[in-house]
Amino acid sequence: MLAKFITLDGIDGAGKTTQLNVIRDWFAAHRLPVLFTREPGGTPLGEALRALLLSPATQVSLHTETLLMFAARRQHLEDVILPALSRGVNVVSDRFTDATFAYQGGGRGLPDGQIEILENWVQGSLKPDLTILLDVPLEVSLQRIERSREKDRFEQETADFFTRVREAYLRRAAAAPERYAVVDSNRDKAVVRGEIEGVLDGVFGVDKAA
Ligand code: TYD
Repeated sequence: MLAKFITLDGIDGAGKTTQLNVIRDWFAAHRLPVLFTREPGGTPLGEALRALLLSPATQVSLHTETLLMFAARRQHLEDVILPALSRGVNVVSDRFTDATFAYQGGGRGLPDGQIEILENWVQGSLKPDLTILLDVPLEVSLQRIERSREKDRFEQETADFFTRVREAYLRRAAAAPERYAVVDSNRDKAVVRGEIEGVLDGVFGVDKAA
């Protein structure tokens, strides 16, 4: 079976950390090779850029912020994602390009067309096989952000910003439903777990009864 590239995305406070554990458990239970990574980050350069991008002390323009996200992404693709996929190892990335369309595009107002130019340049035709988009109502997201001890540069943004980020994610998912699984993660943990397991079963053609 060809290795798959899966990304997990959503607004801050959508519950990515919890659902990453669900995905980890699923891969362990099915004994499938998998590599977990994240963006911005995933390589020494990417992690250094992440520290800069998330630090509230950083002053950066929107264009530069976007270029740095894609610079980290290119290194991530070359050093981690593409080599793993070509070795037959599935890759699960905690965020990917959808986050750029949602945060720099929706949140900050950079036109999609400009992001698409970088997407094509940096990724060529590579797109995730599946993006699990975790969705929660804005109030839930804001409450969870409020609980984090130190807010990063994005978490310090306004409710309006996060409204636009969420809308951009949902718009993208609606425009390409074959690539996205939108999961309402504001429900009972066991229900969300079951839904994510079902999505992975489907993508990998795993027979539930087996
Ligand atoms: P996040 O993934 O939420 O990490 P943590 O769970 O540790 O808080 O933080 C990454 C932040 O970076 C998040 O607020 C979204 C933002 N981001 C962008 O703005 N654009 C991007 O392209 C990516 C990958 C992330």
